[in-house]
Amino acid sequence: MDTEILNALHKFKDGYISGEELAGKLKVSRTAIWNHIEYLRGQGYTIEAHPRLGYRLIEIPDRLFPDEIQRELETKLIGKKVWVYEKITSTNDVASDLAIKGEPEGGVVFAESQAKGRGRLGRSWFSPKHKGLWFSVILRPPLQPVYAPMITIASSIAVAKAIIKYTGQSVWIKWPNDIYTNDKKVGGILTEMNTELDTIKFVILGIGINVNLKVDDFPEELRDKATSISCSRIELVKEILGSLEFYYKMLNEKRWDTIISEWKNLSLVLGKRIKLAQGNKKYEGQALGIDQQGAIILRQDDGIIQRLSSGDVECF
Ligand code: BTN
Repeated sequence: MDTEILNALHKFKDGYISGEELAGKLKVSRTAIWNHIEYLRGQGYTIEAHPRLGYRLIEIPDRLFPDEIQRELETKLIGKKVWVYEKITSTNDVASDLAIKGEPEGGVVFAESQAKGRGRLGRSWFSPKHKGLWFSVILRPPLQPVYAPMITIASSIAVAKAIIKYTGQSVWIKWPNDIYTNDKKVGGILTEMNTELDTIKFVILGIGINVNLKVDDFPEELRDKATSISCSRIELVKEILGSLEFYYKMLNEKRWDTIISEWKNLSLVLGKRIKLAQGNKKYEGQALGIDQQGAIILRQDDGIIQRLSSGDVECF
């Protein structure tokens, strides 16, 4: 019922819809409509009630309500089913449990905050309440596990492009999974995979983007390195889900050359001198590009070409 009232309010957003009309449409009393309007106001919706004209939606709250995420969402797969939690350990954990239970691909788990948000290489991921987008997508790509790093690459392009399109600001990808703007990290991707023999059973694509955080909201140790964008989380997430669907299709069609060339246009490291750490092993040289399996190609000063599929990168 609340969904139907919201749909009607959205439809008549530029004008009013009378209580009588709403009651007629939904076959309930005007008092029932009023009670639902009050409930929605309690949820943070600003709804004007005019004695003669009726109701008008003024503003939606900055909350990840499924109704708002899915409203006019232009995807066929990603986000057709969503779960939203106020607080959970990690969206990757919950999405993984759902995938193990057989949930098909395309489902997305969102959290308003995570108690144990995870980053790459065992790091924690700062995920404060109602700030940022913390979500995980269940995917079942028909690819061999060797191509899994390309899922991260394609998704990082999808996220970067969506942020550029929606905010207009410059966004870059730092291999393999960092999203950068203004020389600081604004988001990251954590791809976790469940395999069987030579096939991927499922992939959990965990995406974290700092949205509407102020400098003081970050713990001190992150302030130099991390940044945030300011925008509507709902509008941005819709843009991202659409973009993910587009690049996921490209990935499943194995259009590696297109993916690599799009990555090149957004890469922070391409052509630069970089240091790459893989545990105790350190490499240094010029980043020449990535291959079809998402590995970075590095030319050392001694001319030796290294192909590295993971690591922490520092650019000069
Ligand atoms: C990184 O840059 O190291 C990756 C960060 C990934 C963070 C996201 S937030 C949603 C999802 N759930 C997690 O626990 N991690 C990912």
